[in-house]
Amino acid sequence: MNIAIVILAAGQGVRMKSSLPKVLHPLAGKPLIRHVLETARQLTDQPPVVVIGHGGDQVQAVVGNDGTCVRQEQQLGTAHAVMTARSLLAGTADLVLVMNSDMPLLTARTLQSLVRAQAENRGPISMLTLLSADSRGFGRVVRDGRGMVQAIIEEAHATPEQLAIRELNAGVYCFRAEWLWQALERIPLSPKGEYYLTDTVGLAAEEGLPIEVSIVDDPAEALGINTRVHLAEAETHLRQRINRRWMLAGVTILDPATTYIEADVTIGADTVLYPNTHLRGNTTIGSHCRIGPNSILEDTRVGDHCLVLASVTEGAILEEGVSMGPYGHLRKGAHLGAGVHMGNFGEVKSSYLGPNTKMGHFSYIGDAQIGANVNIGAGTITCNFDGEHKHPTEIGDDVFIGSDTMLVAPLKIGDRARTGAGSVVTHDVPADTIVVGVPARPHRKHNPSE
Ligand code: UD1
Ligand code: CA
Repeated sequence: MNIAIVILAAGQGVRMKSSLPKVLHPLAGKPLIRHVLETARQLTDQPPVVVIGHGGDQVQAVVGNDGTCVRQEQQLGTAHAVMTARSLLAGTADLVLVMNSDMPLLTARTLQSLVRAQAENRGPISMLTLLSADSRGFGRVVRDGRGMVQAIIEEAHATPEQLAIRELNAGVYCFRAEWLWQALERIPLSPKGEYYLTDTVGLAAEEGLPIEVSIVDDPAEALGINTRVHLAEAETHLRQRINRRWMLAGVTILDPATTYIEADVTIGADTVLYPNTHLRGNTTIGSHCRIGPNSILEDTRVGDHCLVLASVTEGAILEEGVSMGPYGHLRKGAHLGAGVHMGNFGEVKSSYLGPNTKMGHFSYIGDAQIGANVNIGAGTITCNFDGEHKHPTEIGDDVFIGSDTMLVAPLKIGDRARTGAGSVVTHDVPADTIVVGVPARPHRKHNPSE
């Protein structure tokens, strides 16, 4: 059966008390709406229709090509919101799955079972419910003596008896499309001045049509986000889910409670994550690595067999067998070749360090291209900024940079050259040459076999 998905995202999310639209608040490093879009994607290749309103332009920018946005100019309720999608969808699908944008923990599996239930239902609606003593303001599912669903009553309109009902409406429904489009026209205005989508359930029951219910296994999946307290609860659940997934895939996590892996990160088997490790954004970690404790890696690509101890990396690449830390900092464009060792208090930005180059202690390398097997002595600085412009440094293979060398860029240092401790290098150094002093001058030719 052909299925269309509608995601409701026009509400303001007043209770978030935020200038950012609710659906753009990040969860595991990614806006809420992106989580919902990705789940939708697992059900059908057809991009969902996203109903936008508050902060519409911002939301549309984040949805991008992964959904078709329609604007609901006035937020007149959930039924009215679905109505705005009608002209786009009528006649295109047999089933319409409607979901809220503020339930990022729902899994594709749960939604698929709802769609299956509706595919077999001779009535027009299948809905998702949860059993919970904590109502969180959800609508109550009212059943008759035979257990047939009669209506959904919003908390604000419920009698004390109805308030005691523990079966709650998750706000996710699968409708027979033709029935939905005509039923929406018959929805009455609620006492609150809104058109409630939940009233479709009452309409179907009045017509004597069966309403199928799928009860969600894990109520945490139906954790709707209305406040920042809910956001933190969802973050905790999702973090546990992500950590569990990686542990089952062969990653050792010593302390899941203090390990923060964002949704799009990938990690190879036999890697060990030590406590207080944060893996963010587009980070990928190879296998057999040891990361942490106390490390933050963002948008970083780490090869196999690497070691990152108490360090921070952003937009960096570490090839196989790199070791860094404690207290290293890789900034955007840092690229450490295979087997590079970077010891304590080093910083690298927009630079490449060739295979097996060593930078043990207290150095800053910026805008530099460095060859293989180079020794960068303690306290080496690339003086890449003259106050107005950034300048490049090029260092060949097998070079020895003495401790506390200042490399005043732009500068080129040839293969196998050496600089003396404390030298301030202001001119290019040819291959096989030793320079010393302030400013550094050639001292003698250097014969590497000496
Ligand atoms: C809704 C359900 C409630 C259910 C709960 C589960 C109704 C009337 N009530 O209540 O039974 O238990 O979800 O989460 O449907 N929206 C629009 N346009 C509008 C109004 C809302 O797009 O005019 C969007 C919101 O952005 C949100 C979703 O629809 O994503 C639900 O709206 P919300 O106001 O949060 O409904 P609830 O009170 O949570
Ligand atoms: Ca809600």
